[in-house]
Amino acid sequence: MMLSPDINQIHAVIMNNRLGKFITLEGIEGAGKSTHMPFIAALLKKAGREVILTREPGGTALGEEIRKTLLMQKSLEINGDTELLLMFAARAQHLKGVIYPALAQGKTVLCDRFTDSSYAYQGGGRGVAIDKIHRLEQWLHADLKPDLTFLFDLPVKVGLSRANARKHIDRFESEAVSFFQRVREAYLDLANTNPERIRIINAEADIKSVQKTIVMLLKEQGLC
Ligand code: TYD
Repeated sequence: MMLSPDINQIHAVIMNNRLGKFITLEGIEGAGKSTHMPFIAALLKKAGREVILTREPGGTALGEEIRKTLLMQKSLEINGDTELLLMFAARAQHLKGVIYPALAQGKTVLCDRFTDSSYAYQGGGRGVAIDKIHRLEQWLHADLKPDLTFLFDLPVKVGLSRANARKHIDRFESEAVSFFQRVREAYLDLANTNPERIRIINAEADIKSVQKTIVMLLKEQGLC
């Protein structure tokens, strides 16, 4: 009897051999992701890569609507499980509509936050069981991990004072310092268990030294 190939296995093989790279940026509020994203994109483009810049939650029309609900409605009560499911609902749309197609076309996807944020914020911050996050990850993108993740790390108080200096404070930014301590710790745990993929950047350093580290890490990975 001929065994028919499993479509998920075929997908996994394609994703592992893809030319396009998937790079994500992570960190607590005020860590400087948005400052460094255009710099990273410029380096990748200079190296001849076609780069798509995107973000989570968001990146699609529906995802941006979900983002508004999650971030802008400060007084809206959303429990941890619901928050997690909304993050993954936006992610499902983003994966199918943007990330997978771009990677399949050999483009490099530079994404401001991805599933590590769910582990850090919903898992670490809100205390949602890690197994629930793992099951959603397995369901939606078992075959896809970022090739490289920059974790911009800095003390919570420094990050929050930077973020609070901005005009608008969103639903997450209104959380207590202890929430962000848990988020930061969860991020550092993730980096410890995935040292090859997740590279910690000291985000307290000045912009020039952070940029130097970024160039070094991209070169090390043959990405620029
Ligand atoms: P952020 O990336 O900090 O955007 P800005 O720089 O515009 O403030 O905002 C996104 C927020 O969403 C951030 O507080 C973290 C949160 N988030 C989660 O809690 N879980 C997730 O899975 C993702 C992707 C984001």
